[in-house]
Amino acid sequence: MDVILEIKNLNKHFDGIYVSKNIILKIFKGSLTAIIGPNGAGKTSLFNLISGYIEKDSGKIYFQGMDISDKKPENIASMGIVRAFQVANFFPDETVYDNVLVASISLFKKSTNFLADKYSFKNIREHTDMILKNLNLFEKRDLKASELSHGDQKILDIAMALTLSPKVLLLDEPTAGMSPDERKSMVKVIKELHKKFNLTTLFIEHDMDVVFGIAEIIRVMVRGEIIAEGTAEEIRNNPMVIESYLGKEV
Ligand SMILES: Nc1ncnc2c1ncn2[C@@H]1O[C@H](COP(=O)(O)OP(=O)(O)OP(=O)(O)O)[C@@H](O)[C@H]1O
Ligand SMILES: [Mg+2]
Repeated sequence: MDVILEIKNLNKHFDGIYVSKNIILKIFKGSLTAIIGPNGAGKTSLFNLISGYIEKDSGKIYFQGMDISDKKPENIASMGIVRAFQVANFFPDETVYDNVLVASISLFKKSTNFLADKYSFKNIREHTDMILKNLNLFEKRDLKASELSHGDQKILDIAMALTLSPKVLLLDEPTAGMSPDERKSMVKVIKELHKKFNLTTLFIEHDMDVVFGIAEIIRVMVRGEIIAEGTAEEIRNNPMVIESYLGKEV
Protein backbone atom coordinates (compact mmCIF):
# COMPACT_ATOMS: atom_id res chain seq x y z
CA MET A 1 0.00 0.00 0.00
CA ASP A 2 1.16 3.52 -0.82
CA VAL A 3 1.79 6.04 1.93
CA ILE A 4 0.00 9.27 0.98
CA LEU A 5 0.75 11.30 4.10
CA GLU A 6 3.73 10.91 6.38
CA ILE A 7 4.52 12.81 9.54
CA LYS A 8 8.00 12.63 11.04
CA ASN A 9 8.86 13.77 14.55
CA LEU A 10 6.33 16.60 14.57
CA ASN A 11 6.47 18.93 17.57
CA LYS A 12 4.36 21.92 18.54
CA HIS A 13 3.70 23.57 21.86
CA PHE A 14 1.61 26.47 23.08
CA ASP A 15 2.85 28.16 26.27
CA GLY A 16 4.79 25.09 27.33
CA ILE A 17 1.94 22.66 26.63
CA TYR A 18 2.65 20.16 23.89
CA VAL A 19 -0.18 19.75 21.37
CA SER A 20 2.07 17.64 19.19
CA LYS A 21 4.85 15.65 20.79
CA ASN A 22 7.18 13.81 18.48
CA ILE A 23 4.31 12.56 16.32
CA ILE A 24 5.23 9.87 13.83
CA LEU A 25 2.43 8.83 11.51
CA LYS A 26 1.97 7.07 8.19
CA ILE A 27 -1.38 7.32 6.45
CA PHE A 28 -2.01 4.88 3.61
CA LYS A 29 -3.74 5.89 0.41
CA GLY A 30 -7.46 5.13 0.53
CA SER A 31 -7.53 4.46 4.28
CA LEU A 32 -10.21 5.61 6.71
CA THR A 33 -8.69 6.67 10.03
CA ALA A 34 -10.30 7.93 13.22
CA ILE A 35 -8.40 10.15 15.62
CA ILE A 36 -9.78 10.00 19.12
CA GLY A 37 -8.70 11.37 22.48
CA PRO A 38 -9.77 13.62 25.35
CA ASN A 39 -10.54 17.35 25.00
CA GLY A 40 -7.41 19.39 24.52
CA ALA A 41 -5.33 16.38 23.42
CA GLY A 42 -4.17 18.19 20.27
CA LYS A 43 -6.42 16.58 17.64
CA THR A 44 -7.57 19.80 15.98
CA SER A 45 -4.04 21.17 16.29
CA LEU A 46 -2.78 18.15 14.35
CA PHE A 47 -5.21 18.99 11.52
CA ASN A 48 -4.10 22.64 11.75
CA LEU A 49 -0.47 21.55 11.39
CA ILE A 50 -1.17 19.20 8.46
CA SER A 51 -3.19 21.83 6.62
CA GLY A 52 -0.72 24.64 7.29
CA TYR A 53 -2.96 26.74 9.56
CA ILE A 54 -0.39 26.76 12.34
CA GLU A 55 3.38 26.52 12.21
CA LYS A 56 5.19 23.57 13.71
CA ASP A 57 8.16 23.93 16.06
CA SER A 58 10.00 21.07 14.38
CA GLY A 59 9.47 17.95 12.28
CA LYS A 60 8.35 17.20 8.75
CA ILE A 61 5.12 16.50 6.92
CA TYR A 62 5.22 14.78 3.54
CA PHE A 63 2.31 14.50 1.11
CA GLN A 64 2.84 12.02 -1.73
CA GLY A 65 6.54 12.14 -0.89
CA MET A 66 6.71 15.93 -1.13
CA ASP A 67 7.74 18.04 1.85
CA ILE A 68 4.77 20.31 2.65
CA SER A 69 5.89 21.28 6.16
CA ASP A 70 6.36 24.96 5.33
CA LYS A 71 3.65 25.45 2.75
CA LYS A 72 0.71 27.84 3.09
CA PRO A 73 -2.85 26.56 3.69
CA GLU A 74 -4.05 27.51 0.19
CA ASN A 75 -1.14 25.64 -1.42
CA ILE A 76 -1.75 22.57 0.70
CA ALA A 77 -5.46 22.65 -0.16
CA SER A 78 -4.79 22.98 -3.85
CA MET A 79 -2.37 20.05 -3.68
CA GLY A 80 -5.24 17.92 -2.36
CA ILE A 81 -5.38 18.00 1.43
CA VAL A 82 -8.75 19.53 2.23
CA ARG A 83 -10.57 19.97 5.52
CA ALA A 84 -14.08 20.50 6.72
CA PHE A 85 -14.39 22.50 9.91
CA GLN A 86 -15.67 21.77 13.42
CA VAL A 87 -18.14 24.61 12.75
CA ALA A 88 -19.54 24.54 9.22
CA ASN A 89 -18.50 27.37 6.90
CA PHE A 90 -20.90 28.66 4.24
CA PHE A 91 -22.97 31.63 3.03
CA PRO A 92 -26.19 31.22 5.07
CA ASP A 93 -28.43 33.37 2.85
CA GLU A 94 -27.42 31.71 -0.41
CA THR A 95 -28.87 28.47 -1.72
CA VAL A 96 -27.25 25.11 -1.19
CA TYR A 97 -26.61 25.01 -4.94
CA ASP A 98 -24.93 28.43 -5.08
CA ASN A 99 -22.71 27.66 -2.12
CA VAL A 100 -21.37 24.54 -3.81
CA LEU A 101 -21.22 26.28 -7.20
CA VAL A 102 -19.10 29.12 -5.82
CA ALA A 103 -16.79 26.64 -4.12
CA SER A 104 -16.50 24.70 -7.41
CA ILE A 105 -15.39 27.81 -9.24
CA SER A 106 -12.21 27.89 -7.23
CA LEU A 107 -11.32 24.52 -8.71
CA PHE A 108 -11.92 25.61 -12.28
CA LYS A 109 -10.46 29.09 -12.07
CA LYS A 110 -7.04 27.51 -12.09
CA SER A 111 -7.61 26.79 -15.78
CA THR A 112 -6.99 29.99 -17.73
CA ASN A 113 -9.79 32.19 -18.95
CA PHE A 114 -12.52 30.00 -17.52
CA LEU A 115 -15.17 32.73 -17.59
CA ALA A 116 -14.66 33.26 -21.30
CA ASP A 117 -15.30 29.62 -22.02
CA LYS A 118 -18.98 28.74 -21.83
CA TYR A 119 -18.17 25.03 -21.88
CA SER A 120 -16.12 25.25 -18.73
CA PHE A 121 -19.08 26.87 -16.97
CA LYS A 122 -21.09 23.82 -18.04
CA ASN A 123 -18.36 21.70 -16.44
CA ILE A 124 -18.66 23.63 -13.20
CA ARG A 125 -22.41 23.03 -13.12
CA GLU A 126 -21.94 19.32 -13.83
CA HIS A 127 -19.31 19.10 -11.11
CA THR A 128 -21.67 20.86 -8.67
CA ASP A 129 -24.56 18.52 -9.57
CA MET A 130 -22.33 15.46 -9.17
CA ILE A 131 -21.25 16.50 -5.67
CA LEU A 132 -24.77 17.39 -4.53
CA LYS A 133 -26.08 14.04 -5.77
CA ASN A 134 -23.31 12.11 -4.04
CA LEU A 135 -24.06 13.81 -0.74
CA ASN A 136 -27.85 13.46 -1.01
CA LEU A 137 -28.25 17.25 -1.14
CA PHE A 138 -29.49 17.50 -4.73
CA GLU A 139 -33.17 17.55 -3.73
CA LYS A 140 -32.43 20.34 -1.26
CA ARG A 141 -30.37 22.44 -3.67
CA ASP A 142 -32.84 25.37 -3.79
CA LEU A 143 -33.07 25.81 -0.02
CA LYS A 144 -31.04 28.54 1.64
CA ALA A 145 -28.08 27.04 3.50
CA SER A 146 -29.50 28.50 6.73
CA GLU A 147 -32.72 26.51 6.20
CA LEU A 148 -30.90 23.16 6.28
CA SER A 149 -30.88 21.06 9.44
CA HIS A 150 -27.69 21.14 11.49
CA GLY A 151 -26.78 17.71 10.10
CA ASP A 152 -27.26 18.79 6.48
CA GLN A 153 -25.24 21.95 7.11
CA LYS A 154 -22.30 19.78 8.16
CA ILE A 155 -22.82 17.71 4.99
CA LEU A 156 -22.89 20.94 2.95
CA ASP A 157 -19.54 21.87 4.47
CA ILE A 158 -18.15 18.54 3.28
CA ALA A 159 -19.73 19.12 -0.16
CA MET A 160 -17.85 22.41 -0.39
CA ALA A 161 -14.61 20.73 0.63
CA LEU A 162 -15.17 18.07 -2.06
CA THR A 163 -15.33 20.68 -4.82
CA LEU A 164 -11.56 20.93 -4.45
CA SER A 165 -11.28 17.26 -5.56
CA PRO A 166 -9.31 16.29 -2.46
CA LYS A 167 -7.00 13.33 -2.21
CA VAL A 168 -7.03 13.55 1.58
CA LEU A 169 -10.11 14.74 3.46
CA LEU A 170 -9.81 15.93 7.08
CA LEU A 171 -13.06 15.96 9.05
CA ASP A 172 -13.07 17.58 12.48
CA GLU A 173 -15.90 16.13 14.58
CA PRO A 174 -18.30 15.59 11.67
CA THR A 175 -21.13 14.39 13.94
CA ALA A 176 -20.77 16.99 16.73
CA GLY A 177 -24.12 18.22 18.02
CA MET A 178 -26.13 15.89 15.79
CA SER A 179 -29.28 13.96 16.55
CA PRO A 180 -28.99 10.15 16.31
CA ASP A 181 -30.66 10.19 12.86
CA GLU A 182 -28.37 12.93 11.55
CA ARG A 183 -25.44 10.98 12.89
CA LYS A 184 -26.55 7.93 10.94
CA SER A 185 -26.73 9.90 7.67
CA MET A 186 -23.31 11.42 8.29
CA VAL A 187 -21.82 7.98 8.91
CA LYS A 188 -23.39 6.79 5.65
CA VAL A 189 -22.00 9.81 3.76
CA ILE A 190 -18.47 9.29 5.12
CA LYS A 191 -18.52 5.59 4.27
CA GLU A 192 -19.93 6.14 0.78
CA LEU A 193 -17.49 8.94 -0.08
CA HIS A 194 -14.58 6.89 1.05
CA LYS A 195 -15.71 3.91 -1.02
CA LYS A 196 -16.82 5.79 -4.12
CA PHE A 197 -13.83 8.10 -4.51
CA ASN A 198 -11.25 5.93 -2.72
CA LEU A 199 -10.74 9.06 -0.65
CA THR A 200 -8.14 8.94 2.11
CA THR A 201 -10.12 10.16 5.09
CA LEU A 202 -9.06 11.19 8.59
CA PHE A 203 -11.74 12.12 11.04
CA ILE A 204 -11.69 13.34 14.61
CA GLU A 205 -14.59 11.98 16.61
CA HIS A 206 -15.80 11.67 20.19
CA ASP A 207 -18.77 9.38 19.54
CA MET A 208 -17.42 5.86 20.00
CA ASP A 209 -20.30 4.20 18.12
CA VAL A 210 -19.37 6.28 15.07
CA VAL A 211 -15.67 5.54 15.51
CA PHE A 212 -16.07 1.80 15.99
CA GLY A 213 -18.71 1.72 13.23
CA ILE A 214 -16.62 3.16 10.42
CA ALA A 215 -12.92 3.49 11.13
CA GLU A 216 -10.55 0.94 9.61
CA ILE A 217 -7.82 2.16 11.89
CA ILE A 218 -8.02 4.21 15.07
CA ARG A 219 -5.30 6.42 16.51
CA VAL A 220 -5.51 7.64 20.08
CA MET A 221 -4.05 11.00 21.06
CA VAL A 222 -3.39 12.03 24.64
CA ARG A 223 -1.49 15.21 25.59
CA GLY A 224 -0.03 15.67 22.11
CA GLU A 225 1.11 12.07 21.76
CA ILE A 226 -0.25 9.16 19.80
CA ILE A 227 -0.41 6.54 22.50
CA ALA A 228 -2.02 3.73 20.52
CA GLU A 229 -3.14 2.68 17.08
CA GLY A 230 -5.06 -0.30 15.83
CA THR A 231 -8.38 -1.74 14.74
CA ALA A 232 -11.58 -1.17 16.72
CA GLU A 233 -11.06 -4.49 18.46
CA GLU A 234 -7.45 -3.72 19.38
CA ILE A 235 -8.29 -0.23 20.67
CA ARG A 236 -11.28 -1.43 22.67
CA ASN A 237 -9.06 -3.91 24.48
CA ASN A 238 -5.97 -1.75 24.90
CA PRO A 239 -5.48 -1.22 28.68
CA MET A 240 -3.62 2.07 28.18
CA VAL A 241 -6.47 3.47 26.05
CA ILE A 242 -9.09 2.29 28.51
CA GLU A 243 -7.22 3.94 31.34
CA SER A 244 -6.51 7.25 29.65
CA TYR A 245 -9.60 7.76 27.53
CA LEU A 246 -12.30 5.16 27.21
CA GLY A 247 -12.62 4.59 30.95
CA LYS A 248 -15.64 2.50 31.76
CA GLU A 249 -17.47 3.48 28.56
CA VAL A 250 -16.77 0.22 26.77
N1 LIG B 1 -3.76 28.89 18.66
C1 LIG B 1 -3.63 28.46 19.92
N2 LIG B 1 -2.99 29.21 20.85
C2 LIG B 1 -2.83 28.77 22.12
N3 LIG B 1 -3.26 27.58 22.57
C3 LIG B 1 -3.89 26.79 21.69
C4 LIG B 1 -4.13 27.18 20.33
N4 LIG B 1 -4.79 26.18 19.69
C5 LIG B 1 -4.98 25.21 20.61
N5 LIG B 1 -4.45 25.58 21.81
C6 LIG B 1 -4.46 24.74 23.02
O1 LIG B 1 -3.87 23.51 22.70
C7 LIG B 1 -4.53 22.43 23.34
C8 LIG B 1 -5.02 21.43 22.32
O2 LIG B 1 -6.09 21.99 21.57
P1 LIG B 1 -6.83 21.24 20.39
O3 LIG B 1 -7.87 22.18 19.90
O4 LIG B 1 -5.84 20.76 19.41
O5 LIG B 1 -7.47 20.00 21.16
P2 LIG B 1 -8.51 18.90 20.68
O6 LIG B 1 -7.88 17.57 20.92
O7 LIG B 1 -8.97 19.19 19.29
O8 LIG B 1 -9.70 19.09 21.73
P3 LIG B 1 -11.31 18.96 21.55
O9 LIG B 1 -11.63 17.50 21.60
O10 LIG B 1 -11.84 19.68 22.74
O11 LIG B 1 -11.70 19.63 20.25
C9 LIG B 1 -5.65 23.06 24.17
O12 LIG B 1 -5.18 23.21 25.49
C10 LIG B 1 -5.86 24.41 23.52
O13 LIG B 1 -6.34 25.36 24.43
MG1 LIG C 1 -10.83 19.78 18.47
